[in-house]
Amino acid sequence: MLDVMLSVPTQALIGGTWRDAESGRRFDVRDPATGHVVASVSDCGAAETRAAIAAADEALASWSAMPAAGRAAILRRWADLMIERVDELAPVLTRENGKPLTEARGEILYGASYLHWFSEEATRAYGDVIPAPASDKRIIVTKAPVGVCAAITPWNFPNAMLVRKAAAALAAGCTLVAKPAAETPLSALLAAATGLEAGLPPGVFNIVPGVDAAAIGGVLTSSEVVRKLSFTGSTEVGRKLLAQCAPTVKRVSMELGGNAPFIVFDDSDLDAAVDGLMASKFRNAGQTCVCANRVFVQNGVMAEFASRLAERVATLTVGHGDRSGTDIGPLISEAAFAKIERLVSDALAGGARVLTGGGKHPAGDLFYQPTVIDGITADMAVMREEIFGPVAPLAGFETEADVIALANATEYGLAAYVYTRDLGRAWRVGEALAYGMVGINEGVLSSAAAPFGGVKQSGFGREGSRYGLDDYLEIKYMLMGGLSA
Ligand code: SIN
Repeated sequence: MLDVMLSVPTQALIGGTWRDAESGRRFDVRDPATGHVVASVSDCGAAETRAAIAAADEALASWSAMPAAGRAAILRRWADLMIERVDELAPVLTRENGKPLTEARGEILYGASYLHWFSEEATRAYGDVIPAPASDKRIIVTKAPVGVCAAITPWNFPNAMLVRKAAAALAAGCTLVAKPAAETPLSALLAAATGLEAGLPPGVFNIVPGVDAAAIGGVLTSSEVVRKLSFTGSTEVGRKLLAQCAPTVKRVSMELGGNAPFIVFDDSDLDAAVDGLMASKFRNAGQTCVCANRVFVQNGVMAEFASRLAERVATLTVGHGDRSGTDIGPLISEAAFAKIERLVSDALAGGARVLTGGGKHPAGDLFYQPTVIDGITADMAVMREEIFGPVAPLAGFETEADVIALANATEYGLAAYVYTRDLGRAWRVGEALAYGMVGINEGVLSSAAAPFGGVKQSGFGREGSRYGLDDYLEIKYMLMGGLSA
């Protein structure tokens, strides 16, 4: 494990130039595994955000006028460079976020897959010609870029969440100002540097790191130039940003919190269900919006499933993400750690039982043992709140109708998972679940080809797939008349 300051860009990127904050202030980025400072980054605020918006506005006319094939070629080069540089980018991601190196590599490739995907979608922003109600008229529908967009991105996927927004926005012909999470700005700055090298013209992609989220977010949301905000993060912050965007009537995409049910029916392939849960629950130490949060197991197979799961979870290796063989890294912060402790103690006080794990891991202050608890009931905090940690709570259920009701009893609606070998049941339950995404006999749903997004208080808008481009396009209707001879 290295304890050196990383050599990476640490300034804002505004109009194609790397700049320090006007105040001269900087903030520290820490390795959550050790608490050591790994970089010091320009601490930008309102002034730099305004400058970045102006740069994005200036770049808009020429970027949106560039033929889509030209924009596509730059996005493709950006993806190829990220793939070539994966061995440089992944260790930085691990250092600031804590996730194991293999996952960090996976995240860079995942981010690059959105650039590849949207480089292809860029050329397919088709319009329509609609039969008009009169013979001397034609209805023409075209798609135009929304304009200057803003992105506020989270620490749990510091490369991929930024790149998947940028890929869609830039493919559509929009320009972008991004604010990365203060915990993990380095991967975002590296992604920006790679984009510049790939040929992004000045001002097309601007990035403003800083700890004062309210100042940066305040300028982004109140600006009349910014026509759209895309946010990935908590529902609580999403609500505030939505309110802030209302006065300027911005378009918004919100990828917010989740409380994913993972349902195991007694007819399912239990080994496949355990594999799926391991992949869903323990990716990034359980710090994903889509990970299984509530595990519902039909009573007839509960004992067998719980014992197979606990056995597998006990084999996970906890440690610094740099070490080979690490499966579970640290949590991102003391607050995240304290939340897991609170949720587990609340469950135990209510009568739940630890099958494996259940406390702090000796690897360091922010490491929590991969944990399985059973005897969970619907009233416990662990069932109502997003855990965001390596804890799998198991609750029994009796019938299909019962579990659908339990699964839908939440204000969230991002991802859900169902394991069954009964085809009819798979369709019935899949359709009855009030979620934006449902994995049927699959524990990992994410892919550039698929529409990622939620319903209810998990947000709206879709990222990835052909639908993802629409989030950055306006529909324009022209009526052409006077066609009679
Ligand atoms: C997230 O948890 O925020 C995103 C996860 C993914 O894209 O797979």
